[in-house]
Amino acid sequence: MDKMDVFNEKKDLKNYLKAFIDQGQTIGLVPTMGALHDGHLSLMTNSINENTVTVVSIFVNPTQFNNKEDLEKYPRTFDSDLFKIKQISSKIVIYHPQPEDLYEESVTSKNYTFDGLEVEMEGKFRPGHFDGVGTIVQKLFEVVKPTNAYFGEKDFQQLQIIKKLVQLHKIPVNIVACKIYREPNGLAMSSRNERLSVMERNQAALIYQTLLYAKEKFGTKSANVVTEWVKKTFEKQSLFTLEYFEIADESTLKSIKRKQKNKKYRAFIAVFVNNIRLIDNISLN
Ligand code: PAJ
Repeated sequence: MDKMDVFNEKKDLKNYLKAFIDQGQTIGLVPTMGALHDGHLSLMTNSINENTVTVVSIFVNPTQFNNKEDLEKYPRTFDSDLFKIKQISSKIVIYHPQPEDLYEESVTSKNYTFDGLEVEMEGKFRPGHFDGVGTIVQKLFEVVKPTNAYFGEKDFQQLQIIKKLVQLHKIPVNIVACKIYREPNGLAMSSRNERLSVMERNQAALIYQTLLYAKEKFGTKSANVVTEWVKKTFEKQSLFTLEYFEIADESTLKSIKRKQKNKKYRAFIAVFVNNIRLIDNISLN
């Protein structure tokens, strides 16, 4: 009978994975912070289809939170996470460490530069966030030594930063981008959605509706015109506070002044609903 293994310590996990590595088998890694939803589960399904073993890490990484309240209120639902993973496959291996197991004596991040990707959007509004993400993901790569690692386009800037981390530090892993999963009303699935009231969750459909409409407008209008229209749309909404809306080049993440041929563009948005911060993005090509 297949069983689902939960490892709390990296030494035990490494020991378990060694046999697979020695036999040249493929390992898929899905890093998460738990409070799992269908978006997370889709990453796991992709990994199961493409690797001999799949490791899912569940760890609320303190160093990537720039806001204490956000860290404290981050949903922690380990038992129901395990249940959901079991429904996907009994073969998944779970890594659920305490901070000391990964950080040892000092829970701090390394300082990274990612060719400027780290100073745009989330980097501007969440100082230190990508240092925390880079630190934890690099540590997870060192422990698991995955063949493939799965990341969602929901956090598109994070995905591009991880690709850059791997390139700059020559880490032998293939990064697989996975599409955004949405609620039936279009709201991008997120662990933070759990903190919204039913009313807020319904109203938050506006975020994706706005992205869809921005995409349509971008066909005929400039980035500037579209951006101004989005700002005005949110000014009229008392439930929401727009933090940023940007139309940016997919590879550099720099916001664009003028459209050019053969470039890929994406619209990015961050919105507060109450104190809860939601992000989303859409391809414009
Ligand atoms: P977390 O927010 O738990 O997300 C884990 C992975 O699931 C990320 O790659 C994220 O992009 C993906 N994901 C989240 N919502 C999604 C959705 N609606 N559709 C598709 N994929 C989605 O991102 C993190 O954790 C952390 O920063 C982490 C990488 C684990 C490092 O701590």
